[in-house]
Amino acid sequence: MSLADRDGLIWMDGEMVPWREAKVHVLTHTFHYGLGVFEGVRAYNTPDRGTCIFRLEEHTDRLFRSAHILGMTMPYDKDTLNQAQKDVVRENGLEEAYLRPMSFLGSEGMGLRADGLKTHTMVAAWEWPSYMDPDARDRGIKVRTSSFTRHHVNISMCKAKANGNYINSMLALREALDSGAEEALMLDNEGYVAEGSGENVFIVRDNRIYTP
Ligand SMILES: Cc1ncc(COP(=O)(O)O)c(C=O)c1O
Repeated sequence: MSLADRDGLIWMDGEMVPWREAKVHVLTHTFHYGLGVFEGVRAYNTPDRGTCIFRLEEHTDRLFRSAHILGMTMPYDKDTLNQAQKDVVRENGLEEAYLRPMSFLGSEGMGLRADGLKTHTMVAAWEWPSYMDPDARDRGIKVRTSSFTRHHVNISMCKAKANGNYINSMLALREALDSGAEEALMLDNEGYVAEGSGENVFIVRDNRIYTP
């Protein structure tokens, strides 16, 4: 099974393209250096309003903020990307979906000094029922404090949801899985809890929710 080989449509740079043809060149800049931004968004089937995208505008705002932090010029406005996300859910006939908008630098140049790079954007949506084993919600999971430190803002602008930041997440998650845990708890460079490899951490104290 390949995620690349299925029926459906993916939004790429303003057009709906057949799923299998939604390709980029091997010299795509983000593929080489990891400077790109993305979001993970979900659509849920609701009893009274049908399929709804959860906090669509807030996710799109964050995508644009991430792009701004990394100095990427977005060629589309937020309304266009919001519409693109609604369209991929509708045109793929999805009742519930995971949506993946991503903006990346193209193959207009190579090397760190490349200029004239353009920001390209794609939005795909597919059924991805649960990030972890669905039972985990009831039974809880085994979490291991990672030996990998979470990014520091002076290293990789960690307020951006950036593709390259996920090397750190993948190393931490693999370490946790290899040692029999199910997720990694990542600490910042001062030893305070930061987040999981792919999710936030919240605590409830005196009826208030806190997150780092
Ligand atoms: C590293 C990391 N932290 C937190 C989250 C939670 O995402 P959100 O801020 O959209 O709830 C994610 C989800 O992709 C993630 O990858």
